[in-house]
Amino acid sequence: MPTQHCVSLASVQKAQATISALVHLTPVLTNSTLDNWAERKLFFKCELFQKTGSFKIRGALNALSNLTMRRENGEEVRAVVTHSSGNHGQALALAARMQGIPSYVVVPRTAPECKKAAILEYGAHIVECEPTDQSRIETASKTVRETQGILIHSAQNPLVIAGQGTIGLEILQQQVPDVEAVVVPVGGGGMLAGIAVAIKAQRPQVKIYAAEPENADDCYRSKQAGRLTPNTSPPVTVADAVKTSIGDQTWPIIRDLVDDVFTVSEEEIKRATRLMWERAKLVIEPTAGLGVAAVLSSRFRDLPGPLRNVCVVLSGGNVDLDALDWLQGAQVAK
Ligand SMILES: Cc1ncc(COP(=O)(O)O)c(C=O)c1O
Repeated sequence: MPTQHCVSLASVQKAQATISALVHLTPVLTNSTLDNWAERKLFFKCELFQKTGSFKIRGALNALSNLTMRRENGEEVRAVVTHSSGNHGQALALAARMQGIPSYVVVPRTAPECKKAAILEYGAHIVECEPTDQSRIETASKTVRETQGILIHSAQNPLVIAGQGTIGLEILQQQVPDVEAVVVPVGGGGMLAGIAVAIKAQRPQVKIYAAEPENADDCYRSKQAGRLTPNTSPPVTVADAVKTSIGDQTWPIIRDLVDDVFTVSEEEIKRATRLMWERAKLVIEPTAGLGVAAVLSSRFRDLPGPLRNVCVVLSGGNVDLDALDWLQGAQVAK
């Protein structure tokens, strides 16, 4: 492993020992209709069934458990703060409540209402900001100063990345023994980086592919350019959880361990999400449809060489049921 990576297989394994009793071991499901569409055997790692409805509880609990240890060693931990388009916010709120620490979540004012409501329900305070990376960062820094809290970044915190990496360990430990590729949605890159570390250290031949919207394609452009190339304007995409860009902690891992990035159109994301609802009966959120859209894309189908068993991470299921008009006109047609 190159030394500049902030997370190792050992830190992911340690995270698994820390959080496994606190999170669900999510199932890996198959669906023959989807196999036919993709012309491969697909294995769906169902993080939509995870506590709080997304994988984010893994990283939040790993980071918060570390804070609890620091508290036991006499350090004062007044509050935790984060900025999140929703799912990390919910996860941090629940993890903080479990550890008895007040939490403050900076949320773009455009985030889905269901995500904001859930953050409040899990006991956090909401601080609204503009839907730009800069506004999130500035508002979070101000909140940290005001509350004397500790910032837990949704993707650039090594303990969060290690926590998300436990998905990768489970994929190898569960019913996917002959997995040849894993497809992971990417926003800040915490999940992608964690899974890449966990899998490549044990099975370097397994391909790690990222899936991202064409309209928020910083990961794709960074890989093409060979340097971190964040989105310059706020992305407009139905995959609301991946508007944030990859960052300085996740980029070196993604640069070194991720084999390719597949970008998909808004139409492809909507169709893939609808397909999962209709055919697999899995109510995923559009961001989780990214991986499905990627494996159904012509570029993925045209990949050279045999690639029979592909695991797609269905990262979350927090659908804003009040905003379903985006489904109109997204007809499922092969
Ligand atoms: C459902 C879902 N999928 C994927 C992602 C992307 O994760 P990351 O920011 O670690 O790349 C997020 C992030 O919020 C998410 O909530």
